[in-house]
Amino acid sequence: MALLRCAVLVLLCVFHSASATVVADADYGGVPLWINRLLGEPSVISLHGRMDRAWFRANNPQACPQQCDCPIQWPTAVYCDHRGLAEVPDSLPDRTQYLFLQGNNISSLSSFLANITGLRWLILDHNQLQSNKLDQDAALQNQTQLYYFFANHNHLSSVPGMLPAGLKQLRLAHNQISSINPEAFQNLHNLTLLLLQGNRLQTISEGDLKGLASLNLLDLSGNLFSSVPRNLPSTIQQLYLSNNSLSGLDEDSFVGFLNLKYLRLSHCGLKSGGVHWGVFNFSSLVELDLSYNKLTTIPIVPTTLQYLYLEANEIREFNMTSFCREVGPLSYSRMKILRLDGNKMFYHQLPFDWVYCLRVLESIYI
Ligand SMILES: *[C@@H]1O[C@H](CO)[C@@H](O)[C@H](O)[C@H]1NC(C)=O
Ligand SMILES: *[C@@H]1O[C@H](CO)[C@@H](O)[C@H](O)[C@H]1NC(C)=O
Ligand SMILES: *[C@@H]1O[C@H](CO)[C@@H](O)[C@H](O)[C@H]1NC(C)=O
Ligand SMILES: *[C@@H]1O[C@H](CO)[C@@H](O)[C@H](O)[C@H]1NC(C)=O
Ligand SMILES: *[C@@H]1O[C@H](CO)[C@@H](O)[C@H](O)[C@H]1NC(C)=O
Ligand SMILES: *[C@@H]1O[C@H](CO)[C@@H](O)[C@H](O)[C@H]1NC(C)=O
Ligand SMILES: *[C@@H]1O[C@H](CO)[C@@H](O)[C@H](O)[C@H]1NC(C)=O
Repeated sequence: MALLRCAVLVLLCVFHSASATVVADADYGGVPLWINRLLGEPSVISLHGRMDRAWFRANNPQACPQQCDCPIQWPTAVYCDHRGLAEVPDSLPDRTQYLFLQGNNISSLSSFLANITGLRWLILDHNQLQSNKLDQDAALQNQTQLYYFFANHNHLSSVPGMLPAGLKQLRLAHNQISSINPEAFQNLHNLTLLLLQGNRLQTISEGDLKGLASLNLLDLSGNLFSSVPRNLPSTIQQLYLSNNSLSGLDEDSFVGFLNLKYLRLSHCGLKSGGVHWGVFNFSSLVELDLSYNKLTTIPIVPTTLQYLYLEANEIREFNMTSFCREVGPLSYSRMKILRLDGNKMFYHQLPFDWVYCLRVLESIYI
């Protein structure tokens, strides 16, 4: 009884610390995991160190595979993470909607998944998944309820084909992906988040991302791009391209991104000479990260920009024209945070009238 009360207390604590219905859990694959309380989604990705396994096995009347834990609080969740499993366990219960298999030794998806039809999350980070095996078994195709498929840190060499059409999040960071199957994304009209950072992509061809009509966040950091890829969906609001060796940015590098708000281009080897002066001057932009490059001047940014990160460059001068073309009652910069630390300039280089332009600034770092 004492144990039960304790377990209920843990549950309550978890619920209390959460905001309304959607909360961000631990940083997962580089972006927080979004949890929908109204759906009764589990708020932890592993039970390790949280629950007494023996107690749950003894007290939960529902069937549970021998290699897994099934918590009473989330009857639809099955935790089989970090067990050294070489395969997906058989005898997964019909009720399974949230399946945690991260930290195992799984190289392919077995037919056991075909026995369950209501799968919503399939978490397979840190396994040995291989593209040739995954494309053969087509185990996911019929999972019409599958919204999250996570396979960060595996051995995939291409984006799997035959993904279920209802998918909302696809996380494939830190694999060895160098190509995208032409049909992979064709039907994924509901996909909003696609993580591909830490792979080996060099280009994105026309048609590769066709079909991604709802894509909001695309992370392509840490790949082998030498220029901003063309043919990206115009719905993107967050585009992460840090840690690619970009040769430069053309005038039209971001033309067509009418919704782009957050742009990250840190650690890209950018030099002022190779960056077209007007490339960032589009009014949807809210946050721009250009830190750890080789810029010698501050690029022209739109007055709508609120966060600009330029730390660790080689900037020598502060040119107000970058922020304000003119200063008036309604023409001023909306900048809130401006980072210029780790450059070759000093506070006394700011012109005396800079506060008229940057009048809503909250923090400046020099
Ligand atoms: C994972 O599987 C490989 C062979 O497929 C084996 O050599 C290795 O020992 C396994 N690792 C663990 C942790 O079970
Ligand atoms: C799962 O499906 C396989 C065929 O794909 C079948 O042989 C097996 O009995 C099923 N297992 C359960 C527990 O339903
Ligand atoms: C998917 O469903 C179709 C139609 O119900 C069926 O013919 C096919 O065998 C299923 N595929 C898998 C891999 O279970
Ligand atoms: C995509 O989302 C819409 C709206 O939520 C839904 O009606 C539709 O069924 C979804 N598509 C698929 C293939 O699940
Ligand atoms: C980029 O690389 C640097 C240095 O290797 C690393 O510290 C940073 O976390 C990486 N950032 C991203 C977004 O990949
Ligand atoms: C930046 O864009 C705005 C809005 O399109 C335009 O009015 C302004 O002239 C541009 N600034 C420069 C320096 O080209
Ligand atoms: C500031 O930038 C503008 C436009 O890029 C340029 O015309 C002007 O000469 C620069 N001013 C200084 C002091 O460098």
